[in-house]
Amino acid sequence: MSTEKALNTVRTRIPDASAKVGLILGSGLSALADSVAGAAIDYSDLPGFPRAGVSGHAPQLTIGQLEGVEVAVLGGREHYYEHGRADAMRVPLEVLQALGVETLVLTNACGSFRPDIPPGDLMLISDHINYAGLSPLIGEVTDQRFVNMTEAYDAALRADLKNAADAEDIPLTEGVYSWWPGPMFETPAEIRALKALGADAVGMSTVPEVILARFLGLKCAAISVVTNMAAGLGNEHISHEHTKASAPIGAAKLERILLRALRKGL
Ligand code: HPA
Repeated sequence: MSTEKALNTVRTRIPDASAKVGLILGSGLSALADSVAGAAIDYSDLPGFPRAGVSGHAPQLTIGQLEGVEVAVLGGREHYYEHGRADAMRVPLEVLQALGVETLVLTNACGSFRPDIPPGDLMLISDHINYAGLSPLIGEVTDQRFVNMTEAYDAALRADLKNAADAEDIPLTEGVYSWWPGPMFETPAEIRALKALGADAVGMSTVPEVILARFLGLKCAAISVVTNMAAGLGNEHISHEHTKASAPIGAAKLERILLRALRKGL
């Protein structure tokens, strides 16, 4: 099984590998991995880890210390839209769990529906809408597949991240993230529909990973970097180039929040 093979590779390369906190870094947000004092393994050496990759993602698993906390950082993710498999991140998440990870912090880029959460700002995900209607657990046979998603985004972790943001004087508004399968962006009518359903933002990742992480018993928190107002709500031309170019603006704030939260014992 890929998870055991990948884990063997990790343990061979980094014999004492272990981690308490896992991080998934989204488009244009991977610089944080460089701050980890530890060792990195290319995804291409790890069976079951993302292959092709999306430009803007750094494909490495980095394990080491960040602000005194043992972390395992996934410097890039695989998306449903790359091949139509919603469980693309199962092996990487199982490896993190096997290394001892109990807390997972996910990051992503999103399009905002809210004028009070404009491009360059961050949104703390309070809940999600699986608009794609897909599950990474199709085919899973154990009863654990009936995952309780009531408190998918851990209240205590959210409070820790909010406190860290306040201390850094960075606005961090909570909102509901909706999962769009992609790879095409949404039409303005689709954004109106998502908004009417109760979403505050849209993106093409994170939701299947949170489902998998909850299945594996990990506590989750997620922060979105707003790269644009969603289709029909702003003046920018929405494109992947724009996402990659805009993400670093929010990423700098995101890093300050995450580093402080880690220092405070996230
Ligand atoms: N839609 C979907 N995904 C996104 C967007 C968007 O507007 N911006 C960044 N990721």
